[in-house]
Amino acid sequence: MSAPLPPIGMLAELTHRCPLQCPYCSNPVELLKANRELDTETWLYLFRQAADLGVLQVHLSGGEPTLRRDLEQLIAGLAGRGVYTNLITAGVGIAEGRIEAFAEAGLDHLQLSFQGARAETTDRIGHNRGAHEKKLETARRTVAAGLPLTINAPIHRHNIEQVPEFIKLALSLGAERLEIANIQYGGWALLNRDALMPDREAVMRQAEIVEAASAKLAGVLNIDFVTPDYFAIYPKPCMGGWARDAFMVAPDGTVLPCHAAHTIPSLTFERFGEKSLGEIWEDSPAFNAFRGTDWMQEPCRSCERCEIDWGGCRCQAMAIAGDAAATDPACIKSPHHARMAAFVAEAQAAAAAHDASADFHYRRITAGHEAAKVKA
Ligand code: SF4
Ligand code: FES
Repeated sequence: MSAPLPPIGMLAELTHRCPLQCPYCSNPVELLKANRELDTETWLYLFRQAADLGVLQVHLSGGEPTLRRDLEQLIAGLAGRGVYTNLITAGVGIAEGRIEAFAEAGLDHLQLSFQGARAETTDRIGHNRGAHEKKLETARRTVAAGLPLTINAPIHRHNIEQVPEFIKLALSLGAERLEIANIQYGGWALLNRDALMPDREAVMRQAEIVEAASAKLAGVLNIDFVTPDYFAIYPKPCMGGWARDAFMVAPDGTVLPCHAAHTIPSLTFERFGEKSLGEIWEDSPAFNAFRGTDWMQEPCRSCERCEIDWGGCRCQAMAIAGDAAATDPACIKSPHHARMAAFVAEAQAAAAAHDASADFHYRRITAGHEAAKVKA
C-alpha cells in the first residue's frame, strides 16, 4: 500500500466529563475520569504535530470541552498555527465572559447541541433541569461575540416530531447552520437503541420536512441532514472513509480512526507520546486495517460505490454483522441488511407497549460498566 495522504481533520475529545447525561451519547460506555486526561502541554504539543502533519481543522469536543479550564490556551495554540477551530458544546454552565475569551483566543466557529426544541425535552433527554434556558443564553452570547453558530439537533424517537420547531429555533437564534442529525447507534446510543429508535413513518415525514425547508431557506439557513442508517439503502462514508482524511484523539491521548473504533476487538490503538501522530497515522496497524479498498470483501470489493462510501461504517459492521470487515449492514447489498429493519420493528413493538424513555440508561461516568452489564 502506498503512503497515505496527510489528514485534514481531527476530532479532539478533550474530556469525557459532561454536565448532561444524554442516552444517545457517542462516547464509549466506559468513560474516562478526569485524572486520565492529557494535560495542557501535551495537548498543545499534539496540536503542533497535527498542524505539521497537515491538519487544517480541529473539532474540540468531549464530553463537554468547556469543562477544561485551559480551553482558551488550547484554542490559541491551534489558532496560532492557522488551524480552523470548531467548538462542539452542550452550552450549559459556561462562565460569564468565557465565550468572548474563546473568540479572542481565535475560535472560528461554535456548534451548540439542543436535545429538544422544547425546554421539557432538552431537560429530560439531557437529564439536567434548566439546561434549555442555559443553551438559549449560550446561543445569544455566541452570536453577540461575533462567532458563527451551528445548532446541532440529534434526532431520535423522543424529538423527531420537533423538527419544524428546531428549524424555527435555529432561525430565532441567528444560527447560520442547522444540523438535523439522526443519531448513530454506537456507544451509549447502541445501549439505548430500543428506547431511541424512531418509527419509519416519522422518519419519512422528517425527510420531507427537511427537504422542503432546505429549499425554502436557501441562503438564509443552511440545513445539513444526517440520514438515519437504519432506514437507509446505502451507508454513509463513515469518517469520510477509515483513516482517509481524519482521525480522533480520546481524552487520554489514544489516537483512533473514529470514535467507536475501540469496539473492534481485533485492533489495538496507540497513544500519543509513545508514538508521534505522524507515525500513528502512517504506520499503525489499526489505521491500515481498513484503509482504502484492499481489505474489502464481496459485495463491496466489486461494487461501483466502493470509493463513494468506502464500505460504510466498520463499527456498525462489527456491532451488527459481528465482523468489522463486512459490508455495513445499512447497505441493501449486505446479507445482514434485514436485521436493521428487524431492530426497528422490535423497538417499535416495545415502544407501543410502554414509554420507551423509562428504559434510558443515562450516560454516567461511574455507571458505564454497570450499564454495559445490564445490556449483556
Ligand atoms: Fe457501499 Fe459496499 Fe454497499 Fe457497495 S456493497 S454500496 S461499497 S457498502
Ligand atoms: Fe467507526 Fe463508523 S464509527 S467506522
